[in-house]
Amino acid sequence: MTLLTIPGMVDPHVHLRGLDWSHKATFASETAAALAGGYWAVLDMPNTPPPTIDRPALARKLAALGEEAVCDWGVYFGASQADNTAEFAAVSGTVCGLKIYNNATTGTLLVEDQALRERIYAAWPAGRVIAVHAEGETIPRILELVRRTGKHTHFCHVSTAEEIGYLRAARAEGLPISIGVTPHHLYLTEDDLPRLGGFGWMKPELKTRMDVEALWAAVADGLVDVIESDHAPHTVAEKTAPQPAFGVPGLETTLPLLGLAVHEGRLSEARLVELVALNPQRIFGLHPPEGTYTRVDLADSFVIIPANLRTAPGWSPFAGMRVYGRVREVWIRGRLVFDGTQVLAEPGSGRNLFGGEGAAG
Ligand code: DOR
Ligand code: ZN
Repeated sequence: MTLLTIPGMVDPHVHLRGLDWSHKATFASETAAALAGGYWAVLDMPNTPPPTIDRPALARKLAALGEEAVCDWGVYFGASQADNTAEFAAVSGTVCGLKIYNNATTGTLLVEDQALRERIYAAWPAGRVIAVHAEGETIPRILELVRRTGKHTHFCHVSTAEEIGYLRAARAEGLPISIGVTPHHLYLTEDDLPRLGGFGWMKPELKTRMDVEALWAAVADGLVDVIESDHAPHTVAEKTAPQPAFGVPGLETTLPLLGLAVHEGRLSEARLVELVALNPQRIFGLHPPEGTYTRVDLADSFVIIPANLRTAPGWSPFAGMRVYGRVREVWIRGRLVFDGTQVLAEPGSGRNLFGGEGAAG
């Protein structure tokens, strides 16, 4: 048995829930799921109720994570359609970045006015990432702002051949961008929707086989920087309702799905380590503390069984798939926090990696 050691896995795109959505999942349950998935750190999105768009909501989320988290973490501040740019200077030092929802999804955040997007780009301090939900034709609109301001922009969950085309050109132009792709957009297509029903609903939606091929090509050739889960737990009742909620859990399935790609010869081990650890660290300016790494057995295959997952709602769109890569150990700051079976870290032992001067070190 050869174990691969990965230094400090980071998922820069998760929706942990908690706060007024604790019926879906909690910071305690989902950071435990993160450890079981091999992660050192997760970065939480702002489309919670209450949305993370002002200082009281941010303070409430930081306090709850501080009490409950078992892995390290950061949170995004959210751009609001009501123009909350006046808050930016006060909050940017305690968050991992700014998230702008430019297309509709779960929650209430949506910025569709290009003039407001311009004010947001102007106001957000350079040096902390701007992450965007931007689909299709919205991507060139955002690229205009990147070109004008030079502010690093992470394009979340890119899902189509068209979007890959825009971003390939932007990379060639030398714009400061990074690109994330999710496992569900790599492994599922719209053809899976009849089988999955509401469990296959997410934003961006599942696409065609041709789009999936373009994503794999971009993963293989280095255009894609990060595999991000977009972990978004909803209850079974919410996913089987007449109008299902958008989003799928992914923290515990991302690494073994990439292990499957290694097994199939679509991905090298070195590239896997870049996609789940080195590149998200670089983009967000993170340095894993000494004694922070994950050991995974990429040769160990298993079938994804929802009952074995820690994520609170207990379902997966990948149920029944045979994958490769069992997490054996997760170490943070020299402490064994997951031993392959049990989470050993106590609530509150996780740290905010963006908590102030030097905290990201
Ligand atoms: O499918 C999604 N679910 N896409 C998003 O952008 C948000 C997420 C959620 O919070 O449920
Ligand atoms: Zn998301």
